[in-house]
Amino acid sequence: MNLIIRNEKSSDYRVVEEITRKAFWNLHVPGCDEHFLAHRLRTHQDFISDLDFVALIDNQVIANIMFSASYLIGDKGYKLDTITFGPVSVLPEFQRQGIGTKLISHSIERAANLGYNAIIIWGNPCEYCKFGFKASKAYRISTPEKKYPCCLLVKELKSNILSNNNWRFFESKAFEIDKKKFEAFDNTFEAQKKEFRYSQEEFAILSNAYL
Ligand SMILES: CC(C)(COP(=O)(O)OP(=O)(O)OC[C@H]1O[C@@H](n2cnc3c(N)ncnc32)[C@H](O)[C@@H]1OP(=O)(O)O)[C@@H](O)C(=O)NCCC(=O)NCCS
Repeated sequence: MNLIIRNEKSSDYRVVEEITRKAFWNLHVPGCDEHFLAHRLRTHQDFISDLDFVALIDNQVIANIMFSASYLIGDKGYKLDTITFGPVSVLPEFQRQGIGTKLISHSIERAANLGYNAIIIWGNPCEYCKFGFKASKAYRISTPEKKYPCCLLVKELKSNILSNNNWRFFESKAFEIDKKKFEAFDNTFEAQKKEFRYSQEEFAILSNAYL
C-alpha cells in the first residue's frame, strides 16, 4: 500500500468533509456533525494549518486529521498553550488497515518537532493509549468544572511540562456549533438515514464516565 501523507489543500476541502461525514455517520449519535466542524475549523483563529494533514492512496484522499489551539489554566492563573486534534477520519472502506495509526503518529511527531507543549484530546482510551496518551487525571488536568472524564486524554510533548500544577482544560470555541448553520450545511450533502448503532450506546457510556 503506497500511503502518502501531506498537508491539506483547498482542493481537498469538500472531499475531506465527505470522508468525515462518512466516517462519523451514526457512530456517536444518529447522523453526525463532525463534517461541519471540519468545515468551520479551517477558518477559525484556533485552527493550526501546519497540522492539517490528509492521507492519500493512489492519489485519492482517504483520511484527514485536524488540530486546533487549546489551553490549560493552572492553579495560580498560569496559562499553558496546548493543542487538540479532532476530527480524525478514515474513509470506512479503508479503516482497520493501519492508516489512522500512521496519520496520528505522523501528526504527533510533527507537533513535537514544531515545539508544541502537549496534546489534549477527547477520545476513547482504547484507541489512544497506544500513542502514549494518559488519563488527564494523571497530570491533574480537569475540565473547567473540575471533573476528570475518562475520555479526556493527554500526551506531553515536552517532558514534565505539566508537572507541579493543577490544571483546567479549555478547548477552542470552534467546537461550539450553531445548529441552524449546521443543518443548512448538512443539506448540501447526499441524504443519509439517521439510525441507531450500538456504538452510540458505547459513546454515551464513555462520555458519562469519570475517574
Ligand atoms: C478511528 C480511526 C481514525 C482509526 O483509523 P484506522 O485507520 O481505522 O485505524 P488503524 O487501522 O490504524 O487502527 C485501528 C485498529 O485496526 C487494527 N489494524 C490495523 N491494521 C490492521 C489490519 N491490516 N487488519 C486488521 N486490523 C488492523 C489496529 O491494530 C487497530 O487496533 P488496535 O487499536 O487494537 O491496535 C478510524 O477508524 C475512523 O475514522 N473512525 C471513525 C471516526 C472516529 O471514530 N474518529 C475518532 C473519534 S475520537
